[in-house]
Amino acid sequence: MPSFVGAIDNGTSSSRFLIFDEKGDLVIGHQLEYRQIFHQPGWVEQDPMDILGSVITCIDYALRKFELQGNRVKHLKGIGITNQRETTVVWDRKTGKPLHNAIVWSDTRTKDIVRKYCDSSDKGADALRDVCGLPLTTYFSAVKLRWLLDNIPEVKEAHDKGDMMFGTVDSWLIYNLTGGVDGGVHVTDVTNASRTMLMDIHTLKWSDKALEFFGINANVLPEIKPSSCLFGKINHPQLTETKDLPIAGCLGDQHAALVGQHCFHVGEVKNTYGTGCFMVFNTGEKIIPSNNGLLTTVGYQFEGEPAAYALEGSIAVAGSAVKWLRDNMGIIKDAEEINNLAGATKDSGGVVFVTAFSGLFAPYWRPDVRGCILGISQHTTKHHLARATLEATCFQTRAILEAMNADSGQPLKSLRVDGGLSNSDICMQLQADILGIEVTRPQMRETTALGAATAAAVHLDIGIWKGGFKAFTERTQEQESKAVLQKFTPKISEKEREEQYGLWQKAIEKTLSWTP
Ligand code: G3P
Repeated sequence: MPSFVGAIDNGTSSSRFLIFDEKGDLVIGHQLEYRQIFHQPGWVEQDPMDILGSVITCIDYALRKFELQGNRVKHLKGIGITNQRETTVVWDRKTGKPLHNAIVWSDTRTKDIVRKYCDSSDKGADALRDVCGLPLTTYFSAVKLRWLLDNIPEVKEAHDKGDMMFGTVDSWLIYNLTGGVDGGVHVTDVTNASRTMLMDIHTLKWSDKALEFFGINANVLPEIKPSSCLFGKINHPQLTETKDLPIAGCLGDQHAALVGQHCFHVGEVKNTYGTGCFMVFNTGEKIIPSNNGLLTTVGYQFEGEPAAYALEGSIAVAGSAVKWLRDNMGIIKDAEEINNLAGATKDSGGVVFVTAFSGLFAPYWRPDVRGCILGISQHTTKHHLARATLEATCFQTRAILEAMNADSGQPLKSLRVDGGLSNSDICMQLQADILGIEVTRPQMRETTALGAATAAAVHLDIGIWKGGFKAFTERTQEQESKAVLQKFTPKISEKEREEQYGLWQKAIEKTLSWTP
């Protein structure tokens, strides 16, 4: 009897449900974009019910397609979940209903709260770095929760009465998929917890020091579990066919991509181009503090194994800039069209686009700045702007790579990529040119979902994942040497590369001083 494993992948812009077979090959999937709510500049919200609804619809459609292929739902052995991280959801313990829209990770409304916290500590933004590995910025969940407590009376009241439940999107989904008010479990995994600023990355437990710092009650928090274990079983009125299916994997999306790209060894790195873009470097059992603007985070933890840690460089805007060209500017009709535009010109005509819609993340950490387009002339066309949009992510990736090289002391020789924008040959060639190292792209680019499926399948002990985590990683090492990768090698001279990057650095300087 064949076995299959499913993966829910809730990204910032869309949800999907994908089904993999026992060999780890993608069988079928369904994807849905869902609503983003922008009330004012710098604010980004989502309705938690939209997130849940999109996931349920994706499961439903994917299962229909799966059956049309001649497969049987009963052969699906379990599912993993992977999700946009940091996005903060609060709901009522008694009704199970959200108390507010989710505040999305890229939302910068908390910049004043962050400034106050930084001013209150002699360590400034590093006040909690030794506990949670992260600097104080608008990015992480705890400051978003603080904003909700300070500004939304219903949230404060529920918090103080012990009626509030807090979670990142994984917790919200698992709670609802396992029954909601009717016995739903309140859990998260170590990777998602490591993005809240509330978990001690050394002990992998909620930190009293961090909770006290932010004034948050411990009873609102989910239970922290490894990334691969039994989280709960499906119990949802719209998912009767999959009732009792185990949810056996859960990781934040960037951590899932690390697993899906098989970066199981120290020094292995992946860069995922999604709504944002995130480079993650496996540091093994070592917790390496960054001196260069990177984050220290949990990479993943398989049940019974020690946690693997990682260094991360986060870019807030990547695919969302392409979406902006499509939805706000109307320059393209669909995301893929950017390739035709950018490919129709040999360069960006001197245009540099710093896509700081939500401030700048690593390695700059400036929530107060806004995007700038520099170098526009009469000669500038939409082709130049399209190319400059792709270059923006590639230049920021270079800044992160330099920080990563400095922190790890091991200059990277090649970069593994995945995610939406990595499908663009032109963008990946630009990336290789701008970095001056080889960029390698796997054939299977649904690595985030594969990572979540892997976490579930290792626990379920099925297919290529049989025999536990160690046995699986040993086998992947053999496969890696045979894997077919598409390679992009740098095609411009060192002089051109440095000139282009010099122009980007000038644009960054201008952007950093543009604080409206
Ligand atoms: O930290 C935010 C990140 O998890 C979002 O990922 O894929 O939606 O850009 P993505």
